[in-house]
Amino acid sequence: MASVAFLGLGVMGYPMAAHLKNRGGHDVTVYNRTTAKAEKWVAEHGGSYARTPREAAEGKDFVFACVGNDDDLRSVTIGSDGAFQSMKKGSVFIDNTTASAEVARELGEAAKARGFSFLDAPVSGGQAGAENGVLTVMVGGEQAVFDHARPVIEAYARMVGLMGPVGAGQLTKMINQICIAGLVQGLAEGINFGQRAGLDIEKVVEVISKGAAGSWQMENRHKTMKDGKYDFGFAVDWMRKDLKICLEEADRNGAALPVTALVDQFYKDVQGMGGNRWDTSSLMARLQK
Ligand SMILES: NC(=O)c1ccc[n+]([C@@H]2O[C@H](COP(=O)([O-])OP(=O)(O)OC[C@H]3O[C@@H](n4cnc5c(N)ncnc54)[C@H](OP(=O)(O)O)[C@@H]3O)[C@@H](O)[C@H]2O)c1
Repeated sequence: MASVAFLGLGVMGYPMAAHLKNRGGHDVTVYNRTTAKAEKWVAEHGGSYARTPREAAEGKDFVFACVGNDDDLRSVTIGSDGAFQSMKKGSVFIDNTTASAEVARELGEAAKARGFSFLDAPVSGGQAGAENGVLTVMVGGEQAVFDHARPVIEAYARMVGLMGPVGAGQLTKMINQICIAGLVQGLAEGINFGQRAGLDIEKVVEVISKGAAGSWQMENRHKTMKDGKYDFGFAVDWMRKDLKICLEEADRNGAALPVTALVDQFYKDVQGMGGNRWDTSSLMARLQK
């Protein structure tokens, strides 16, 4: 059993912290900017909550975070009330936020200078993956630190992989998002085409999902796309944040991302339709307006 802090009890963090406590059996202290959520978490799961990241992280073996973007992450780490101000030597900070590889490297250096370790560990699997404790975790950091942290991370994961040095976890998550962007647009075009052709989409998917066109998105999203339902899942605002990170990284490494850049603009259209919090499968909505 380890002493653990978890910073950020959002859609993802709330159930992840619960798995660390209930499945992992760890001693968990939570922090959330809006304290009411931390109070609710403690009422449901026990443990304790702190008023600042600094207070939550003090004396802990492992400190997890799952907040919004680079700036939020800097605020809960190197900010004046941030976790980095109180972390003990030899401890590990594990960041589950989807952020840039640059901020991961910056925080990795800052952690090293203070005598503790940093792993970037973004996740894939969505709200359901977090609630069921079956996330995929893409980790960047040193092998020995990874080996030490892995059994703790496994409380909320089905797959945990070390991808390379600090930053490599975020780079892997970028590839994940690049692959999804074009795929979801292709799926939306296919379903829209099928509906206009007068075919039974369920029947079409039942057959083609077993062939070369099959995908997680097809299996899990075709029904709601067919019905025009998007009020759940991974928000368009978050996807645009992620695609911006991908496009900026591609500017640095020279990779061409023409389809990703185009799909990013399609998501901008969806935001214009009021779809900021709609699931990413709402690319379909643009084709049917
Ligand atoms: N949702 C998904 O399906 C999914 C899947 C994979 C990865 N992710 C990534 O996981 C991260 C979290 O996503 P989520 O869906 O859990 O988001 P969310 O529900 O909006 O939660 C965000 C959390 O971060 C906290 N936060 C934001 N800015 C902060 C700041 N400046 N200082 C302190 N706390 C701050 C929020 O606190 P308050 O409660 O006070 O607002 C909240 O606890 C994002 O990077 C997202 O891209 C999400």
